[in-house]
Amino acid sequence: MLRELLEKNRSIRSFDRSVKPSESELLDMIECTRLCPSSANLQALKFKPVTNEEECRAVFSATKWAGYLKDMEIPPRGHEPTAYIIVANDKEIAKNTVPFYKDTGIVSHTILLRAAEMGYGGCMIGSFDEKAVKETLGLSDTLEITLVLALGKADESSKITENKGDIKYFRENGVHYVPKRSLKEILI
Ligand SMILES: Cc1cc2nc3c(=O)[nH]c(=O)nc-3n(C[C@H](O)[C@H](O)[C@H](O)COP(=O)(O)O)c2cc1C
Repeated sequence: MLRELLEKNRSIRSFDRSVKPSESELLDMIECTRLCPSSANLQALKFKPVTNEEECRAVFSATKWAGYLKDMEIPPRGHEPTAYIIVANDKEIAKNTVPFYKDTGIVSHTILLRAAEMGYGGCMIGSFDEKAVKETLGLSDTLEITLVLALGKADESSKITENKGDIKYFRENGVHYVPKRSLKEILI
């Protein structure tokens, strides 16, 4: 079950705009993070669900996508994400924010796995303009945004493929392929 979910859970960069995760579905995804491990159990991460159309548009314009496919418009116009979850360190809880970058990875994958289980797709976006996202959403200076999670209903196909010497993802006949290093390659 977990293995299947992990295979299904590819980064998605094209969305069916007629489908939007509801606020309560986003809260369900966020609630799952309460079950995650946390550095010193401080639980310093906070989450902002975003479903408002105007806010989604503004967050989108502060993000960068698919760095290896610069000559393509990704997501294609009219196929942008329909929701976001913003992940942030609460600096009032975590004075040293460094450990919480690790926590960010753990909770973000949890959210995306839950989203996949619910029939949605998404993409972690580490390349974003923090100031712009904070201004759009009116987030306090005590928060440091660590990751933006883009969400929606996938309308593209993404598949894992063998690493043939280049780990750059590529597109062929409308399918997004993600080369993964073999078990042998990742063993020390
Ligand atoms: C921490 C992190 C940040 C990422 N930031 C971006 C990003 O800014 N833009 C983007 O298009 N994809 C981003 N990705 C998605 C990766 O490109 C993607 O995980 C990788 O190509 C492997 O594809 P897969 O997730 O389908 O296995 C990010 C992934 C991670 C883990």
